[in-house]
Amino acid sequence: KTGMFTFDPGFLATASCESKITFIDGDQGQLYYRGYPIEQLAEGGSDFLETCYLLIYGELPSKAQKDEFVKTVTEHTMVHEQLTRFWQGFRRDAHPMAMMVGVVGALSAFYQDSLDVANPRHREVAIYRLLSKIPTIAAMCYRYSQGLPFAYPRNDLSYTANFMHMMFSTPCAPYEPNPVLVRALDRILILHADHEQNASTSTVRLSGSSGANPFACIAAGIATLWGPSHGGANEAVLLMLDEIGSVENVPAFMEGVKNKTHKLMGFGHRVYKNMDPRAAIMKRTCDEVLAELGLQDDPKFKLAMALEKIALEDEYFVSRKLYPNVDFYSGIVQSALGIPVEMFTVIFAVARTVGWISHWNEMMSDPGMKIGRPRQLYTGAPRRDYVKMADRG
Ligand code: SDX
Repeated sequence: KTGMFTFDPGFLATASCESKITFIDGDQGQLYYRGYPIEQLAEGGSDFLETCYLLIYGELPSKAQKDEFVKTVTEHTMVHEQLTRFWQGFRRDAHPMAMMVGVVGALSAFYQDSLDVANPRHREVAIYRLLSKIPTIAAMCYRYSQGLPFAYPRNDLSYTANFMHMMFSTPCAPYEPNPVLVRALDRILILHADHEQNASTSTVRLSGSSGANPFACIAAGIATLWGPSHGGANEAVLLMLDEIGSVENVPAFMEGVKNKTHKLMGFGHRVYKNMDPRAAIMKRTCDEVLAELGLQDDPKFKLAMALEKIALEDEYFVSRKLYPNVDFYSGIVQSALGIPVEMFTVIFAVARTVGWISHWNEMMSDPGMKIGRPRQLYTGAPRRDYVKMADRG
């Protein structure tokens, strides 16, 4: 029993660490950030930067605290001008996630020398630098892949509106982001901000436990998130919808899933054996965005709805508790926002950076913290003596 939550002994045996940041009940489909239900944060009047404050510091900010936090993050969104040279080394068609891994890791070369990870103030500065600069770097990856000039941040815009400005504005015309679309992207960032000990967060904690600098640790998290079973799923959902093409092809595609030739991307979850609460919120956001853009009859969205309906009624999926997860709808929303498929996981990384860095900071704040060292069950050859080449068959 820890606090208000009780865990069965079987669960406790599998827990890899303790944390006060995020609680998930996979059976009930519940997700709390620092005790607050995700529904209330995503749809109850909060925003992404306020959620960042909550995840980092553990409490909702006062008005003064929020204003100070937003001001500090806003005033650090520019990157060192020399950093822009890294992009010259990438091929024009480099995947934005490849650029993200490289450039975020390279931040170590700009901010690591004076950083003492044992010093709470130094850790806080690193947190602000990452939170401030990750959207700028993400937008630069997008602009480079599109052959567009980099757009400098604007301090007069909110965090998410500025991110859209850095991605979509052009020097040729004024750009004012649509508030409905800004709110939708802000909600995507809130929903993806943290998720307990998922693969990428566990990677950040393990690499951080060795004392590695936070920029290198976040780069390791980005690399892990890239996989199609994890953060790359929203990109895989859109590629899957393109592959299916039309509703008529759904039955044949589903047969392939049942024969295990391919997975139904955007479905299933290691922890949620009920609806992923984020998926329900994302579906409502999807409806809002498509209505705002007049895309309700978008064939890709209609195909996704048909797929969802069939899966939710099919015994194969119901018996395996395979429900839509957050990635099933987030790709459709991002596609409607004009974000290209290869940028979906980059957006996920922008959101999850606050989760990664909050877990890193929580772990580094523990005076009893030790380097992670998972053990294994050896199932290889028994002890045997070396055989010289001449004596081998
Ligand atoms: C994220 O950990 C996190 O919290 C991650 C995340 C986060 O916020 O960080 O929530 C983000 O990664 C969400 C998941 C995104 N991934 C996908 O949508 C890719 C498709 N999903 C699958 O790859 C899969 O569902 C996983 C990887 C997410 C979970 O895989 P598990 O743990 O193997 O699922 P399971 O044990 O519940 O599987 C039970 C059965 C198995 O079949 P059987 O051996 O019983 O016959 O269901 C099958 C699985 O093969 N199965 C699927 C399936 N997912 C599981 N079959 C078809 N399509 C799927 N999507």
